[in-house]
Amino acid sequence: MKSEIMRVDKYISNQLNGVSRKDAKALCRKGEVLVNGNVVKNSDEKITAGKDTVTVQGEEIAYKKYVYIMLNKPQGYVCSTHDGKSPTVLELVPPELFREGLFPAGRLDKDTEGFVLLTNDGELAHKMLLPKSHVEKKYYVELEKPVEDYYISEFEKGMEIDGGDVCLPARIEFVPENEKACYVYISEGMYHQIKRMFHKLLNKVVFLKRVKIGNLEMNPDLALGECLELLHKDVEKIL
Ligand code: URA
Repeated sequence: MKSEIMRVDKYISNQLNGVSRKDAKALCRKGEVLVNGNVVKNSDEKITAGKDTVTVQGEEIAYKKYVYIMLNKPQGYVCSTHDGKSPTVLELVPPELFREGLFPAGRLDKDTEGFVLLTNDGELAHKMLLPKSHVEKKYYVELEKPVEDYYISEFEKGMEIDGGDVCLPARIEFVPENEKACYVYISEGMYHQIKRMFHKLLNKVVFLKRVKIGNLEMNPDLALGECLELLHKDVEKIL
């Protein structure tokens, strides 16, 4: 694992959920932090993450270089690391989960809600986003007009949408209690793809939410704008 040099208080707040930089400084002052067995009272002290052993109140703090975050994106946020005008999804990440190099693995439109995976693991994100990986994404869609039966075969065929783009075969599932709602499964992510697919069918998407990526479902208890840290083994379900 590549080593990273950082202040000891930053390391502690990064690695321990619910521990702020201020808390980490206080732990140092109280003599409750050891680096390689020696008490470190000065929280400015630099450590080499992944190499030095950091202990807090007698517990060794294992280094997690990579974080994987499930975000329930609200409307109004853009999926990029910076944007001159609109707030970005990174602004929703709590400080204890924030890492250098964090970015959204895949994009949702500004007015789309739902599951966005944020990570600083470029390799995993790259694998997940490769077109040949065909990671299926599930969306909940609300339309202006009722869903028609013939949409099923149109989606299955692989639709040609405006601009001449041809979609891979996709699936649609009706929602029995709402004739204007459905679930759509696509395994690619062309620009405004679902909106363009329904536009081609002379309908219009009025609400869109991503609810699943690969085999990983968005946690139904995650409120809009909230983040949940995932384990690497959870994220592997995506691939
Ligand atoms: N399709 C869209 O049209 N928009 C999204 O945000 C995702 C899929």
